[in-house]
Amino acid sequence: MSLDMEKARVAWNLIYNDMLVSDTEQGLVECYGQHAVRYDQYIKDIGYRMPAKTAKLLMKYGNLGPESEVLDVGAGTGILGTKLRELGYRGEIDGLDGSSGMLKIAESRKLYRNLVQQFLTADCALDVGDVMYDAIASVGVFSAVHVGASVTRCLFNHVKSGGVVIISYRVNETTIGDTEFIAELKDTINSICDKGKASVIAELSTDFFGVNFFADDPSKPCPGLCLCLRKT
Ligand SMILES: C[S@@+](CC[C@H](N)C(=O)[O-])C[C@H]1O[C@@H](n2cnc3c(N)ncnc32)[C@H](O)[C@@H]1O
Repeated sequence: MSLDMEKARVAWNLIYNDMLVSDTEQGLVECYGQHAVRYDQYIKDIGYRMPAKTAKLLMKYGNLGPESEVLDVGAGTGILGTKLRELGYRGEIDGLDGSSGMLKIAESRKLYRNLVQQFLTADCALDVGDVMYDAIASVGVFSAVHVGASVTRCLFNHVKSGGVVIISYRVNETTIGDTEFIAELKDTINSICDKGKASVIAELSTDFFGVNFFADDPSKPCPGLCLCLRKT
């Protein structure tokens, strides 16, 4: 899919210079809410690829059927739900996000069973009652400025034994914060796996965005990684 570079540049600037303009995690979630109605267009214009790739991996590794329950952590406007339905998934999808504005758009898609507003913090419990999911995915949420690496552990408390957890994140190391976040996430995953609680079943290096205005050549994709784990 070829992108209109001028449109992409405008959308990139809107995202990084107009939308994500708070220094705090809570403030950033509010920023998403304020721009929720424009979010899908912005990220379409920069060639956001991760929800589609993550949905494919969920279908490949999740053993999902009509009785399955999937949780989308940081569901935003519900793009992952759309991609799962496009691939023929007919089971339940729940979503959780800190922004009511983003969730309102997700709700309008009528693809999710429950949508929960919760601001995630280190080592918090997910506000999903006693549901043990077949699969949990989080796309574009774990990052230096959003949800921290320690929240990974919480996800495993809400997935069945044998179930899948997929974390899809940007690996473009543009700031020291990004580099530190990626190292911390790797340490956290290693520690979960070393304790025998899960194992890595796939790591897909892929394009996060189709463009990258952080880099010298913006026409090259911004890299991302989909990390797939299976709970023991
Ligand atoms: C880049 S968007 C990704 C949304 C969706 N997963 C997608 O791929 O389009 C990041 C989302 O994470 C949510 N978020 C960021 N930090 C959060 C936090 N600490 N707790 C809950 N949600 C958070 C934002 O509200 C936003 O909807």
